[in-house]
Amino acid sequence: MKKRVLSGIQASGDLHIGNYFGMIKRMVEYQDRSDLFLFIANLHTLTTIQDPKEMKRLTLQAAMDLLALGIDPDRCHFWAQSDVPEVTELAWILSCVTPMGLMERAHSYKDKVAKGIHPTLGLFSYPVLMAADILINQVQVVPVGKDQKQHVEIARDIALKFNGHYGDTFVIPEPEIPEEVAVIPGVDGQKMSKSYGNTIPIFGAEADIKKCVMGVVTDSKGIGEPKDKQCTLLQLCKVVMPAKDYADFEKRFCKGGMGYGDAKKALLEAIQKTFRPFRDKRIHFEAHPEEVEKILEDGAIKVRRVTFKTLERVREVTGLRY
Ligand code: ADP
Ligand code: TRP
Repeated sequence: MKKRVLSGIQASGDLHIGNYFGMIKRMVEYQDRSDLFLFIANLHTLTTIQDPKEMKRLTLQAAMDLLALGIDPDRCHFWAQSDVPEVTELAWILSCVTPMGLMERAHSYKDKVAKGIHPTLGLFSYPVLMAADILINQVQVVPVGKDQKQHVEIARDIALKFNGHYGDTFVIPEPEIPEEVAVIPGVDGQKMSKSYGNTIPIFGAEADIKKCVMGVVTDSKGIGEPKDKQCTLLQLCKVVMPAKDYADFEKRFCKGGMGYGDAKKALLEAIQKTFRPFRDKRIHFEAHPEEVEKILEDGAIKVRRVTFKTLERVREVTGLRY
């Protein structure tokens, strides 16, 4: 039997190449070798976006992006979180076995509040909803970036706690974080993230993408000087360029003789080459939002066969089905 793999992506703005190489590319590949579950985590987005029009737009936009990048609803489960009410019911049930201490150790709540996000109960209990997303689908593997590792560990702890008390109910999930794409740097060298404003967007206008790439931080070494292997520019080239092109590029770049301007041009070309084939598909979906809505609707029906079954079992073991 193929392994069950699940991940979610928030509907919170333009996708960037950190999202693609950190997560989406693996998802596209997983469609062939696993039973893939992928969803738009718009209930999680509600912790930060509370404008209804914007919420609707962002949910559809995230779906369009993923479909254009190669997610195929016939080869995976693909849906919007808000279309599957079993998840929020399970989140409540899980919250009743989740120790406060476990939640208080979660760093993302503190980080988000420190960044100015309004502290709400939803923001605090975010990891419990995420645990419900994972556990309700009985998945073995959860591919994420490093920033989500603690959330998957919390889901594991909650599953162990629940199974320990009520008997084996949930599969215990494992995070999967390949080292080479764990943290893709942004143009300023910090982790690339929408919330740091340091991204290189995937579907932005070509001129904007160019501007971002040309803005990647560098030191002031001259053309002839040898360059640092760890620099942000080279890290980005490493994730974007095909492995065989990159090996040769790295040698030429590090030994000196290539300026930062030329290296940025090569990075830009590699980005354009990678994403150009997806643009037409993205334009198609943009013009046909009704197709995307139908895909999400069908996806919710498909995944609810799984979520309903798990929830029935949970209701049974907890004594809620009287
Ligand atoms: P952002 O930080 O831009 O808000 P999200 O939190 O929505 O991105 O992340 C969506 C997915 O992409 C997650 O699995 C996350 O771990 C991954 N991801 C985001 N940024 C990066 C990055 N810079 N490097 C690797 N993976 C990333
Ligand atoms: N919290 C994740 C993020 O911000 C999104 C997410 C929600 C998720 N539920 C999930 C990821 C379940 C993996 C599994 O990126």
